Amino acid sequence: MRLHVHPTPEDAATEAANLIAAQVTDKPSSVLGLATGGTMEPVYALLRDKHESGLSFADAVTFNLDEYVGLSGDHPQSYRRYMQHHFFKHVDICQSSAYLPRGDIPPEEASEEYETLLQKFGPIDLQLLGLGRNGHIGFNEPLSSLASRTREKSLTKSTLDANSRFFNAGERQPTTAITMGIASIMDAKRIIVLAVGDGKADAVAAMIEGPVTSMCPGSILQMHAQVTVIVDEAAAAKLT
Ligand code: F6R
Repeated sequence: MRLHVHPTPEDAATEAANLIAAQVTDKPSSVLGLATGGTMEPVYALLRDKHESGLSFADAVTFNLDEYVGLSGDHPQSYRRYMQHHFFKHVDICQSSAYLPRGDIPPEEASEEYETLLQKFGPIDLQLLGLGRNGHIGFNEPLSSLASRTREKSLTKSTLDANSRFFNAGERQPTTAITMGIASIMDAKRIIVLAVGDGKADAVAAMIEGPVTSMCPGSILQMHAQVTVIVDEAAAAKLT
């Protein structure tokens, strides 16, 4: 694992966006693995700017990590809507090449369909990952099988609490999601993990310096040959 520590969250997001832009410049038909969440919002803002300055995503194929079960792609809290809002609608990506698991069909069917698509278009050239406070990657919560592939996962209380900020009062928050599995993620040729803020410091330390364990799904990334972890100083605070 390569570790890059930046003074600020903005610097960390800038490096992540630069790596994605370089990947697409080198290989316009790249298959990109994408993530949602608060950490990624500045990354997509920077990529939108780069598109304004000429970077094209027209030939890229994208696969998002996860989607809530029970939400259709046009639901305001769906991850497809997040991606539309923060990225897809602002750039020249071909909408039919921008894949997310489907939350509006039976989860088993959606999972199988997604794995088939991943096998067809993969391997992912560059996978962008965030990190949960509990060490999750995608929605592979602690105790997920390290050999898992795309499937429905129940979200832990820690994840539900962390993500409740995205839901309005009274709005139903889904308790399960379809997520690429840990083995599906490990198939990527190259992986970037972006984590910022002191809330991620324990998870970052466990991911990089702890044992490889399903208790911290991010720790499996120690077994991948091409991982860059990009953090700010706050997220790096508990590294020895
Ligand atoms: C999102 C995802 C999650 C998030 C993680 C961090 O698609 O797969 O693993 O990356 O929960 O979320 P934020 O950035 O909101 O702290």
